[in-house]
Amino acid sequence: MRVVLVPFPLQGHITPMLQLGSMLHSKGFSITIAHTDHNPPNPSNHPNFTFVNLPDQLGRGADIYFQNPLSVIFGINSNCGEPLRNVLSEMIENQERDGILACVIYDPLVYFVDSVVKELQIPSLILRITGSVYLKALRVNIQLHEENPYVIPESMLLEKVSNLEPLRFKDLPSPLHVKVPEVVIQLQRNLIDKGSSLGFVWNSVDDIEGSILSELKQQYNVPFFSIGPFHKLVPPSLSTSLMEEDKSCIEWLDKQSPKSVLYVSFGSLATLESRDLVEVSRGLAQSEQHFLWVIRPGLIKGSKWIEDLPEGFIEEIGQKGLIVKWVPQREVLSHFAIGAFLSQCGWNSVMESLGEGLPMICKPCHADQKVIARYLTHVWKIGILLDDPLDRESIEKSIRKVMIDEEGKDMRENAMNLKQKIDASVNEGGSSYKSLNDLADSLRQMEM
Ligand code: UDX
Repeated sequence: MRVVLVPFPLQGHITPMLQLGSMLHSKGFSITIAHTDHNPPNPSNHPNFTFVNLPDQLGRGADIYFQNPLSVIFGINSNCGEPLRNVLSEMIENQERDGILACVIYDPLVYFVDSVVKELQIPSLILRITGSVYLKALRVNIQLHEENPYVIPESMLLEKVSNLEPLRFKDLPSPLHVKVPEVVIQLQRNLIDKGSSLGFVWNSVDDIEGSILSELKQQYNVPFFSIGPFHKLVPPSLSTSLMEEDKSCIEWLDKQSPKSVLYVSFGSLATLESRDLVEVSRGLAQSEQHFLWVIRPGLIKGSKWIEDLPEGFIEEIGQKGLIVKWVPQREVLSHFAIGAFLSQCGWNSVMESLGEGLPMICKPCHADQKVIARYLTHVWKIGILLDDPLDRESIEKSIRKVMIDEEGKDMRENAMNLKQKIDASVNEGGSSYKSLNDLADSLRQMEM
């Protein structure tokens, strides 16, 4: 039986989709990845999958998303329906030769898939690449915008949102102090819609997000399969990176003491101001802790790479720090030398970090990240939030707290406790392990 996966073409969305493909392949399914021209995955890393191209008519250039994210999202959703319909129709015609088409699993950002599968009467599931905490917040956020389409005073931003505690208005995906364009609200409605899908697949763990998952399951009234963290259920060698990984950092980490290095990364999409770069660099130096820092080209607005670092910074830190463009992050986070993670709090990074029992310093940037950061700091209690604007003193203090200070001991312990829950969930008999089997069983019954 064949499963067709349709990811949205960004790193944080492609990775979990490819990982899901790997898990389902290990359960005996043939996997087809239907991808756009923009940011295609590398087929040579996945010799067992079939790849089909959906022409998106967006033009070339990896940075088109950064120039205008909405036009990429809307462009893909307007232009890729017809190509997907052709691909799926051909599969249906050739089922005897190529295997039965069991299901299409897609990312909610490629919501065009719903009308195609409905028309062709193909069963579908939605892969939720981020936490249920975000879906819950987004649903309430949309409702608030609909009930009260005008702005709230800025003074209310620190107040808690009822039904969403501990979230404050400022943690919402789109806080209500500025008017949000109707096209954005409509996009958000598409993201929360279940369409004709028969269920949701989650890169999450029942033992961590169980109560919210149950609440949402009742509201959506479809089966949920929480089979996270995905990276723990696929071979560690599975490469899903869209950028070249600098593996030299592993040799550098090998020379460090256990739990002595802070890992710093802002993921694949966030951008920072030049002044933030300076504050982070000063905070790192002042903390006197060792660090591995990913500065992705394009991370700093208006700069190619690290030109805006304070003069003499590289010489000043010497062997204490290493700055690189992109790393094999899962390998880095599981390295014995890593003691904590300063992150933008994208969901993949968070799951990868929780899976290693690391405390976190949270510098959320956009979308789901503020919601996730609030849960890390106030519910799971394994993180410290860096407020805007960034300043070197609080960065220094936070680093010392998560890495070495007595004050951070509880956070370090809480993080290890979560890791144990996660390990139990992916081991034989654990909740994620069982959910993956349930998902495979459900797919086997999903013939058209
Ligand atoms: C996007 C959204 O913005 C985010 O909020 C959502 O939750 C996921 O997708 P992104 O920055 O891609 O954000 O987030 P993240 O979830 O952190 O994913 C980044 C991925 O890149 C991770 O799987 C991480 O392992 C990988 N990575 C990061 C590397 O492989 N190397 C690096 O150097 C840095």
